[in-house]
Amino acid sequence: MKKTRSTKLGQMENSPLALAVEEAVQAFARRNPASAAQFSKASNVMPGGNTRSVLFYAPFPLAMERGDKATLWDIDGHRYDDFLAEYTAGIYGHSDDLILDAIRRALNDGLNLSGHNRLEAELAFEICNRIPSIELVRFTNSGTEANLMAIALSKLVTGRSKILVFDGAYHGSVLSFTGGASSPINVPHDFIISCYNDGEASIELIRKHQADLAAVLVEPMLGAGGCVPGDPEFLWTLRRLTEEVGALLIFDEVMTSRLAFGGRQSSLGIKPDLTVIGKYFGGGLSFGAFGGRADIMGRFDPSRSGALSHPGTFNNNTLTMAAGLAGLRGRLSQQALTALNERGDTLRNELNAAFCAASFPMNVTGVGSLMNVHAISVTVRNADDLVGQDENLKRLFFFDMLEEGIYLARRGLIALSLPIGNVEAGRLMAAVKRFIDRRKKLLV
Ligand SMILES: Cc1ncc(COP(=O)(O)O)c(C=O)c1O
Repeated sequence: MKKTRSTKLGQMENSPLALAVEEAVQAFARRNPASAAQFSKASNVMPGGNTRSVLFYAPFPLAMERGDKATLWDIDGHRYDDFLAEYTAGIYGHSDDLILDAIRRALNDGLNLSGHNRLEAELAFEICNRIPSIELVRFTNSGTEANLMAIALSKLVTGRSKILVFDGAYHGSVLSFTGGASSPINVPHDFIISCYNDGEASIELIRKHQADLAAVLVEPMLGAGGCVPGDPEFLWTLRRLTEEVGALLIFDEVMTSRLAFGGRQSSLGIKPDLTVIGKYFGGGLSFGAFGGRADIMGRFDPSRSGALSHPGTFNNNTLTMAAGLAGLRGRLSQQALTALNERGDTLRNELNAAFCAASFPMNVTGVGSLMNVHAISVTVRNADDLVGQDENLKRLFFFDMLEEGIYLARRGLIALSLPIGNVEAGRLMAAVKRFIDRRKKLLV
């Protein structure tokens, strides 16, 4: 059942918390005149000065000048520890030598070769090797596009029309189910929306629509929806039921693939029919890919009669192929990924311990190197559980962190990159502890 929004103490106008937010926002505006001017200039030619909705927050978002390893500088000259890492795509940090060298080498060989190249099959091999359920893979330019392809393929293969998705899920700009509904700009597929982590409700819907159900599309952890891990039992239920009714199971691992060498599916022991990846697999450049069972993906084999067509000018562009390959081969060993995710687990536990020790109404959800700070004390298992968040507290947290030189998403997402070490994690912990001490009195 949907929860309605309640007014928290701190969300009331003129509450000490609301006034503190106002002060923090004014201080932010005073500190960042160059970002304010940039925003105003961009607003003349772009709606709200924006071409990527997730980056916007009032009164204006920061504009960045440059990045190096795990550090960012904004155009007013402030320095930040980058705990956002391009919403998970920047796993290697900003200036990894190995990746930059691979891009330079690809550049030296000339852009736009109008043909196949050696790198694409190498990258495909690396991906199939890491994620065994991906027997064959195809590249796209974004995770959105890869999900669109996986959905279309599942409809064609099954001859059915419906796609089961989950409340709070994000599969791309035209495949968004965050905010309590299907986005009005979503592609017009016949979506059925179930409740995340609710096995019984999902079983009921799958059975009810089984004759028309082409696929269940699921993130093994809601990413944009707040880093809400899928219960293994829930995800296994989806695997069993899809098999039973002849629908495909599509794992959107655009975010979660980094949680283990073989993606979160390998930790769970689940083999989906199709998997979608993206983000860091392109080494920091535009990328997406979908792949899975050879019998299904084989439908795209152009040498077959009646093959499905999937063109795309930049699908195999040499810069992305080179960067992706260099990162996977040179940096993202099993050992490196395990260490990164252990660092994330430690940080999340320490953050939660600090909030808990102070009875401060915030908590951090997630798995490994991905996490999200929420202004709520309840256990979060689905999108509904997040409805009662104290938005003022969350806003204050964000602006206080910026003042402390900690960069994270306005919605609370933290994604660790490889160059984040103990020093940076220590600075985040110290900043959060100061936030708790300084702001606790606003909540009584
Ligand atoms: C789980 C998931 N799927 C798909 C996408 C879309 O990827 P892209 O932004 O490359 O289109 C994202 C992006 O954040 C994502 O988190």
